[in-house]
Amino acid sequence: MTQSVRPVSLTQYLVEIQRDKGLIPGELRLLLEVVARACKRISLAVSKGDLAGMLGEAGTDNVQGEAQKKLDVIANETLLEANEWGGHLAAMASEEMEGVYSIPHRYPRGEFLLLFDPLDGSSNIDVNASIGTIFSVLLLPEGVTEPAVEHFMQPGTRQLAAGYAVYGPSTLLVLTVGDGVAKFTLDKETGSWTMTGNHLRVPDETGEFSINMSNARHWHPPVCRYVDELLAGRDGPRGKDFNMRWVAAMVGDVHRILCRGGIFMYPRDTREPDKPGKLRLMYEANPMAFLVEQAGGAATNGTQRIMEIQPTGLHDRVAVFLGSRNEVERVTAYHREN
Ligand code: F6P
Repeated sequence: MTQSVRPVSLTQYLVEIQRDKGLIPGELRLLLEVVARACKRISLAVSKGDLAGMLGEAGTDNVQGEAQKKLDVIANETLLEANEWGGHLAAMASEEMEGVYSIPHRYPRGEFLLLFDPLDGSSNIDVNASIGTIFSVLLLPEGVTEPAVEHFMQPGTRQLAAGYAVYGPSTLLVLTVGDGVAKFTLDKETGSWTMTGNHLRVPDETGEFSINMSNARHWHPPVCRYVDELLAGRDGPRGKDFNMRWVAAMVGDVHRILCRGGIFMYPRDTREPDKPGKLRLMYEANPMAFLVEQAGGAATNGTQRIMEIQPTGLHDRVAVFLGSRNEVERVTAYHREN
Protein backbone atom coordinates (compact mmCIF):
# COMPACT_ATOMS: atom_id res chain seq x y z
CA MET A 1 0.00 0.00 0.00
CA THR A 2 1.39 3.43 -0.87
CA GLN A 3 1.65 5.80 2.03
CA SER A 4 -0.14 9.11 1.47
CA VAL A 5 2.16 12.12 1.95
CA ARG A 6 0.72 14.56 4.48
CA PRO A 7 1.05 18.16 3.37
CA VAL A 8 3.56 20.13 5.44
CA SER A 9 2.44 23.56 6.59
CA LEU A 10 4.70 26.59 7.01
CA THR A 11 4.26 26.32 10.78
CA GLN A 12 5.30 22.68 10.79
CA TYR A 13 8.33 23.39 8.59
CA LEU A 14 9.47 26.20 10.88
CA VAL A 15 8.83 24.23 14.07
CA GLU A 16 10.96 21.38 12.72
CA ILE A 17 13.76 23.79 11.79
CA GLN A 18 13.57 25.31 15.28
CA ARG A 19 12.94 22.30 17.51
CA ASP A 20 14.49 19.35 15.67
CA LYS A 21 17.35 21.03 13.84
CA GLY A 22 17.89 23.86 16.32
CA LEU A 23 18.68 26.24 13.45
CA ILE A 24 16.53 29.19 14.47
CA PRO A 25 15.29 30.56 17.78
CA GLY A 26 11.56 30.37 18.57
CA GLU A 27 11.23 34.16 18.33
CA LEU A 28 12.46 34.13 14.73
CA ARG A 29 9.96 31.42 13.86
CA LEU A 30 7.15 33.52 15.28
CA LEU A 31 8.39 36.59 13.42
CA LEU A 32 8.41 34.71 10.10
CA GLU A 33 4.88 33.51 10.73
CA VAL A 34 3.74 37.10 11.27
CA VAL A 35 5.44 38.21 8.06
CA ALA A 36 3.72 35.35 6.21
CA ARG A 37 0.36 36.41 7.69
CA ALA A 38 0.90 39.97 6.49
CA CYS A 39 1.71 38.65 2.99
CA LYS A 40 -1.56 36.74 3.09
CA ARG A 41 -3.39 40.00 3.75
CA ILE A 42 -1.52 41.78 0.97
CA SER A 43 -2.41 38.90 -1.37
CA LEU A 44 -6.08 39.41 -0.53
CA ALA A 45 -5.87 43.14 -1.26
CA VAL A 46 -4.03 42.44 -4.54
CA SER A 47 -6.63 39.91 -5.67
CA LYS A 48 -9.55 42.27 -4.93
CA GLY A 49 -7.95 44.81 -7.26
CA ASP A 50 -10.37 47.27 -8.78
CA LEU A 51 -13.33 45.78 -6.91
CA ALA A 52 -12.01 47.28 -3.69
CA GLY A 53 -10.45 50.38 -5.26
CA MET A 54 -6.93 48.98 -4.76
CA LEU A 55 -5.48 50.03 -8.13
CA GLY A 56 -4.07 53.36 -9.29
CA GLU A 57 -1.86 56.07 -7.90
CA ALA A 58 -1.71 56.99 -4.22
CA GLY A 59 -0.92 60.60 -5.10
CA THR A 60 2.31 60.57 -3.03
CA ASP A 61 6.02 60.00 -3.70
CA ASN A 62 8.23 57.61 -1.76
CA VAL A 63 11.68 58.33 -0.35
CA GLN A 64 13.24 57.61 -3.76
CA GLY A 65 11.02 60.24 -5.39
CA GLU A 66 8.97 57.56 -7.19
CA ALA A 67 5.18 57.94 -7.48
CA GLN A 68 3.54 55.50 -5.07
CA LYS A 69 0.65 53.27 -6.07
CA LYS A 70 -2.18 52.71 -3.62
CA LEU A 71 -1.03 49.13 -3.17
CA ASP A 72 2.53 50.26 -2.31
CA VAL A 73 1.10 52.24 0.59
CA ILE A 74 -1.38 49.53 1.66
CA ALA A 75 1.29 46.80 1.60
CA ASN A 76 3.70 48.96 3.60
CA GLU A 77 1.07 49.71 6.26
CA THR A 78 0.00 46.06 6.41
CA LEU A 79 3.58 44.94 7.14
CA LEU A 80 4.15 47.66 9.74
CA GLU A 81 0.88 47.01 11.56
CA ALA A 82 1.24 43.23 11.56
CA ASN A 83 4.80 43.32 12.87
CA GLU A 84 4.92 46.17 15.35
CA TRP A 85 3.12 44.61 18.31
CA GLY A 86 4.32 40.98 18.32
CA GLY A 87 7.37 41.59 20.52
CA HIS A 88 9.85 39.98 18.09
CA LEU A 89 11.26 43.11 16.51
CA ALA A 90 13.46 46.01 17.54
CA ALA A 91 12.86 48.01 14.35
CA MET A 92 11.85 47.86 10.71
CA ALA A 93 13.06 49.54 7.51
CA SER A 94 11.10 49.73 4.29
CA GLU A 95 11.89 50.74 0.74
CA GLU A 96 8.89 53.06 1.02
CA MET A 97 10.08 54.94 4.13
CA GLU A 98 12.99 57.26 4.63
CA GLY A 99 14.22 56.26 8.07
CA VAL A 100 14.09 53.46 10.60
CA TYR A 101 10.68 52.55 12.06
CA SER A 102 11.33 51.83 15.72
CA ILE A 103 8.84 49.66 17.56
CA PRO A 104 6.60 52.00 19.61
CA HIS A 105 7.43 51.94 23.32
CA ARG A 106 3.95 50.70 24.22
CA TYR A 107 4.87 47.30 22.74
CA PRO A 108 7.53 44.86 23.89
CA ARG A 109 10.73 44.88 21.83
CA GLY A 110 12.59 41.89 20.45
CA GLU A 111 16.06 41.47 19.02
CA PHE A 112 15.40 41.32 15.28
CA LEU A 113 15.45 43.89 12.49
CA LEU A 114 13.05 43.44 9.59
CA LEU A 115 13.63 45.00 6.17
CA PHE A 116 11.16 44.85 3.30
CA ASP A 117 10.18 45.97 -0.15
CA PRO A 118 6.43 45.85 0.51
CA LEU A 119 5.36 45.71 -3.12
CA ASP A 120 8.00 44.84 -5.67
CA GLY A 121 7.27 45.45 -9.36
CA SER A 122 4.81 48.30 -8.85
CA SER A 123 4.53 49.01 -12.58
CA ASN A 124 2.83 45.60 -12.92
CA ILE A 125 0.02 46.41 -10.47
CA ASP A 126 -2.40 48.07 -12.84
CA VAL A 127 -1.90 45.49 -15.61
CA ASN A 128 -2.63 42.46 -13.41
CA ALA A 129 0.85 40.95 -13.81
CA SER A 130 2.96 39.33 -11.07
CA ILE A 131 4.10 41.47 -8.15
CA GLY A 132 5.46 40.53 -4.73
CA THR A 133 6.87 41.34 -1.31
CA ILE A 134 10.56 40.82 -0.44
CA PHE A 135 11.92 40.66 3.12
CA SER A 136 15.11 40.12 5.08
CA VAL A 137 15.84 39.62 8.77
CA LEU A 138 18.95 40.79 10.68
CA LEU A 139 19.90 40.67 14.34
CA LEU A 140 20.12 43.88 16.35
CA PRO A 141 23.75 44.16 17.51
CA GLU A 142 24.19 43.17 21.13
CA GLY A 143 23.84 45.89 23.75
CA VAL A 144 21.88 48.29 21.51
CA THR A 145 18.70 49.62 23.08
CA GLU A 146 17.71 52.32 20.57
CA PRO A 147 17.96 50.89 17.04
CA ALA A 148 19.18 53.37 14.41
CA VAL A 149 20.28 53.26 10.77
CA GLU A 150 23.84 52.27 11.67
CA HIS A 151 22.56 49.03 13.26
CA PHE A 152 21.06 47.97 9.93
CA MET A 153 24.41 48.47 8.15
CA GLN A 154 25.27 44.78 8.09
CA PRO A 155 26.36 42.84 5.00
CA GLY A 156 23.95 40.27 3.56
CA THR A 157 26.03 37.41 4.98
CA ARG A 158 24.53 38.37 8.36
CA GLN A 159 20.93 37.75 7.25
CA LEU A 160 19.16 35.21 9.44
CA ALA A 161 16.26 34.74 7.06
CA ALA A 162 15.04 36.09 3.75
CA GLY A 163 12.18 35.44 1.42
CA TYR A 164 9.53 36.74 -0.90
CA ALA A 165 5.86 36.32 -1.64
CA VAL A 166 4.73 36.31 -5.28
CA TYR A 167 1.18 37.46 -5.98
CA GLY A 168 0.71 35.71 -9.31
CA PRO A 169 -1.75 33.08 -10.59
CA SER A 170 -1.09 31.47 -7.17
CA THR A 171 0.26 33.21 -4.11
CA LEU A 172 3.60 31.71 -3.09
CA LEU A 173 6.01 32.21 -0.24
CA VAL A 174 9.66 31.30 -0.85
CA LEU A 175 11.86 31.28 2.20
CA THR A 176 15.34 30.56 3.50
CA VAL A 177 16.66 30.45 7.04
CA GLY A 178 20.02 29.14 5.82
CA ASP A 179 18.84 25.55 5.41
CA GLY A 180 18.08 25.58 1.68
CA VAL A 181 15.07 27.18 0.06
CA ALA A 182 11.49 26.08 0.65
CA LYS A 183 8.37 27.05 -1.26
CA PHE A 184 4.82 27.30 0.10
CA THR A 185 1.57 27.86 -1.78
CA LEU A 186 -1.27 29.75 -0.14
CA ASP A 187 -4.42 27.65 0.00
CA LYS A 188 -6.97 30.42 -0.28
CA GLU A 189 -9.78 28.15 0.98
CA THR A 190 -8.13 27.12 4.23
CA GLY A 191 -5.86 30.15 4.56
CA SER A 192 -2.79 27.99 5.18
CA TRP A 193 0.64 28.03 3.56
CA THR A 194 1.34 24.50 2.32
CA MET A 195 4.80 23.34 1.32
CA THR A 196 4.97 22.72 -2.43
CA GLY A 197 8.75 22.48 -2.81
CA ASN A 198 11.85 22.10 -0.67
CA HIS A 199 15.58 22.37 -1.33
CA LEU A 200 14.99 24.24 -4.59
CA ARG A 201 18.06 24.12 -6.87
CA VAL A 202 19.19 26.58 -9.51
CA PRO A 203 20.96 24.57 -12.23
CA ASP A 204 24.54 25.70 -13.01
CA GLU A 205 23.82 25.79 -16.75
CA THR A 206 21.01 27.72 -18.40
CA GLY A 207 19.74 28.86 -21.76
CA GLU A 208 17.69 31.79 -20.44
CA PHE A 209 18.52 35.38 -19.49
CA SER A 210 16.63 38.39 -18.08
CA ILE A 211 17.55 42.00 -18.66
CA ASN A 212 15.72 45.16 -19.69
CA MET A 213 17.05 45.29 -23.28
CA SER A 214 15.69 48.81 -23.80
CA ASN A 215 18.64 50.08 -21.74
CA ALA A 216 21.24 48.39 -24.00
CA ARG A 217 22.61 51.67 -25.37
CA HIS A 218 23.50 52.77 -21.81
CA TRP A 219 25.31 49.59 -20.72
CA HIS A 220 29.02 49.35 -19.96
CA PRO A 221 31.30 47.22 -22.21
CA PRO A 222 31.34 43.99 -20.10
CA VAL A 223 27.53 43.78 -20.14
CA CYS A 224 27.40 44.57 -23.89
CA ARG A 225 29.97 41.85 -24.54
CA TYR A 226 28.13 39.26 -22.45
CA VAL A 227 24.66 39.97 -23.88
CA ASP A 228 25.95 40.24 -27.47
CA GLU A 229 27.39 36.74 -27.11
CA LEU A 230 24.04 35.42 -25.84
CA LEU A 231 22.18 37.10 -28.69
CA ALA A 232 24.56 35.63 -31.27
CA GLY A 233 23.13 32.23 -30.31
CA ARG A 234 24.24 29.04 -32.00
CA ASP A 235 26.43 30.89 -34.53
CA GLY A 236 28.26 32.92 -31.87
CA PRO A 237 31.02 32.12 -29.38
CA ARG A 238 28.56 30.39 -26.99
CA GLY A 239 27.47 27.93 -29.66
CA LYS A 240 23.86 27.74 -28.44
CA ASP A 241 20.66 29.75 -28.57
CA PHE A 242 19.48 31.67 -25.49
CA ASN A 243 15.92 32.71 -24.72
CA MET A 244 14.97 35.97 -22.98
CA ARG A 245 12.29 36.67 -20.34
CA TRP A 246 11.59 39.93 -18.46
CA VAL A 247 8.71 40.10 -15.94
CA ALA A 248 9.63 43.66 -14.79
CA ALA A 249 9.16 42.55 -11.19
CA MET A 250 12.28 41.11 -9.61
CA VAL A 251 10.21 38.58 -7.64
CA GLY A 252 8.82 37.16 -10.87
CA ASP A 253 12.20 36.87 -12.57
CA VAL A 254 13.96 35.43 -9.51
CA HIS A 255 11.12 32.99 -8.94
CA ARG A 256 11.46 31.66 -12.49
CA ILE A 257 15.21 31.27 -11.94
CA LEU A 258 14.60 29.32 -8.72
CA CYS A 259 12.20 27.07 -10.67
CA ARG A 260 14.24 26.39 -13.81
CA GLY A 261 17.47 28.41 -13.82
CA GLY A 262 18.54 31.50 -15.72
CA ILE A 263 20.46 34.71 -15.14
CA PHE A 264 18.89 38.00 -14.00
CA MET A 265 20.76 41.25 -14.62
CA TYR A 266 20.15 44.84 -13.64
CA PRO A 267 23.54 46.45 -14.34
CA ARG A 268 24.65 49.95 -13.52
CA ASP A 269 24.69 52.08 -16.66
CA THR A 270 25.80 55.40 -18.04
CA ARG A 271 22.53 57.29 -17.46
CA GLU A 272 23.29 58.28 -13.88
CA PRO A 273 27.01 57.59 -13.36
CA ASP A 274 26.73 58.20 -9.60
CA LYS A 275 24.07 55.51 -9.15
CA PRO A 276 25.55 52.04 -8.79
CA GLY A 277 22.40 50.44 -10.25
CA LYS A 278 18.62 50.58 -9.90
CA LEU A 279 17.86 47.89 -7.36
CA ARG A 280 18.18 48.32 -3.60
CA LEU A 281 20.85 46.38 -1.76
CA MET A 282 18.99 45.96 1.53
CA TYR A 283 15.44 45.31 0.30
CA GLU A 284 15.99 43.47 -2.98
CA ALA A 285 19.54 42.37 -3.79
CA ASN A 286 20.58 40.93 -0.39
CA PRO A 287 17.47 38.81 0.29
CA MET A 288 17.41 37.52 -3.32
CA ALA A 289 21.15 36.79 -3.20
CA PHE A 290 20.68 34.79 0.02
CA LEU A 291 17.90 32.72 -1.58
CA VAL A 292 19.78 32.15 -4.83
CA GLU A 293 22.99 31.14 -3.05
CA GLN A 294 21.05 28.78 -0.79
CA ALA A 295 19.71 27.18 -3.97
CA GLY A 296 23.23 26.69 -5.37
CA GLY A 297 23.32 29.81 -7.57
CA ALA A 298 25.49 32.92 -7.36
CA ALA A 299 24.93 36.67 -7.00
CA THR A 300 27.42 39.49 -7.68
CA ASN A 301 27.42 43.19 -8.51
CA GLY A 302 29.77 42.46 -11.41
CA THR A 303 32.91 42.41 -9.31
CA GLN A 304 31.95 41.39 -5.77
CA ARG A 305 29.66 38.89 -4.07
CA ILE A 306 26.51 40.86 -3.25
CA MET A 307 26.19 39.47 0.26
CA GLU A 308 29.68 40.74 1.16
CA ILE A 309 28.98 44.36 0.25
CA GLN A 310 29.13 46.66 3.28
CA PRO A 311 26.03 48.88 3.15
CA THR A 312 26.45 52.60 3.75
CA GLY A 313 22.82 53.68 3.83
CA LEU A 314 19.36 52.11 4.10
CA HIS A 315 18.54 52.88 0.48
CA ASP A 316 21.85 51.98 -1.20
CA ARG A 317 21.54 50.81 -4.77
CA VAL A 318 23.56 48.09 -6.42
CA ALA A 319 24.10 46.40 -9.77
CA VAL A 320 22.77 42.83 -9.75
CA PHE A 321 23.80 39.68 -11.64
CA LEU A 322 22.25 36.57 -10.12
CA GLY A 323 21.15 33.07 -10.97
CA SER A 324 22.81 30.07 -12.59
CA ARG A 325 26.37 29.90 -11.31
CA ASN A 326 28.26 29.44 -14.59
CA GLU A 327 26.58 32.44 -16.24
CA VAL A 328 27.03 34.72 -13.22
CA GLU A 329 30.69 33.74 -13.04
CA ARG A 330 31.14 34.46 -16.76
CA VAL A 331 29.63 37.96 -16.68
CA THR A 332 31.56 38.70 -13.47
CA ALA A 333 34.79 37.58 -15.14
CA TYR A 334 34.07 39.97 -18.06
CA HIS A 335 33.76 42.82 -15.56
CA ARG A 336 37.02 41.88 -13.86
CA GLU A 337 38.86 41.66 -17.20
CA ASN A 338 37.57 45.11 -18.03
O1 F6P B 1 12.14 47.68 -7.79
C1 F6P B 1 12.47 47.75 -8.99
C2 F6P B 1 11.83 46.88 -10.07
O2 F6P B 1 10.44 47.01 -10.17
C3 F6P B 1 12.21 45.40 -10.02
O3 F6P B 1 11.29 44.62 -9.33
C4 F6P B 1 12.28 45.04 -11.48
O4 F6P B 1 13.17 43.97 -11.72
C5 F6P B 1 12.74 46.32 -12.11
O5 F6P B 1 12.44 47.37 -11.22
C6 F6P B 1 12.05 46.62 -13.41
O6 F6P B 1 12.74 47.63 -14.02
P1 F6P B 1 12.34 48.26 -15.44
O7 F6P B 1 11.35 49.32 -15.12
O8 F6P B 1 13.61 48.78 -15.97
O9 F6P B 1 11.75 47.16 -16.28
